[in-house]
Amino acid sequence: MKSEKLIEKILKLKKEKNAIILAHNYQLGEVQDIADLVGDSLELSRKAAETDAEVIVFCGVDFMTETAAVLNPKKVVLHPEPLAKCPMAAMITPETLIAEKRKHPNAQVVCYVNTSAAVKAESDICCTSANAVKVIESLNTEEILFVPDQYLGHYVSTQTDKKIILYPGFCPTHLRILPEIAEESKRKYPEAKFVAHPECRPEVIALADAVLSTSGFCRYAMGEEVKEMLVGTEIGIIHRLRKENPEKRFIPVSEQAVCPNMKLITLDKILWSLEEMEPKVKVSPDVLHRAKEAVDRMLSI
Ligand code: 13P
Ligand code: SF4
Repeated sequence: MKSEKLIEKILKLKKEKNAIILAHNYQLGEVQDIADLVGDSLELSRKAAETDAEVIVFCGVDFMTETAAVLNPKKVVLHPEPLAKCPMAAMITPETLIAEKRKHPNAQVVCYVNTSAAVKAESDICCTSANAVKVIESLNTEEILFVPDQYLGHYVSTQTDKKIILYPGFCPTHLRILPEIAEESKRKYPEAKFVAHPECRPEVIALADAVLSTSGFCRYAMGEEVKEMLVGTEIGIIHRLRKENPEKRFIPVSEQAVCPNMKLITLDKILWSLEEMEPKVKVSPDVLHRAKEAVDRMLSI
């Protein structure tokens, strides 16, 4: 089907079903363009908590759709492609987290939002890349078990005096951004601001002018002093950066920084999902209740 026809059908069905379309900053350009909100994990979680739409079509990866379901137990949350999963989130299970907690009985557990609902249910509080330092500072403990991203955990440890115990998870996409190529890009574009996501390696972060969440990139790009930006994150965000700042230049640090899972959501799948009201995201009531406490605690600070 031609994309104009597809878009027309999606928008019509969206209205009829009282649905809202949320899309992460890494989604395909055509998906971002039909969304009601394009944002980072924190913004999407907040919107999911506030919306009075009856149906949430979540264009992102599994942990994001589960978070939306946890925050909206009475609503229908649709994930147009359930095979879109975050490999980092899959690096920790409730069982491995329970084993880690036994090793560190005095630590409070902070889980990155990139975790399953079942892992969130075993955690004290959740965080995103936008609020990780704030979340850790809000806790009345000196010892934090941070899961699963060792790189975000390492970055946070440079911003706080608290003891951060790391877990060996990582994002395969952000690891493709190597310090050598970041240095080369900086030499090639000396006037450009280099912005890195905290999932990047510490050697890459050390070269950055700013370390921000994905929507942090978008806000930073609007600054008057930014004419050119070296983008140290998944390259799908460049669609939004260019759309919002047509007069500025955005250069990917690595063309290989692609999250293939994020790209699995397409307009055809969104239409199918709205037509069939499937696939619905399901979280068991016990897990949902405990995961919600960790997410609500984050949203309340
Ligand atoms: P943000 O919360 O910054 O959007 O990051 C989510 C993510 O998966 C980055 O890889
Ligand atoms: Fe997961 Fe990395 Fe993809 Fe983000 S970019 S969803 S952390 S694999």
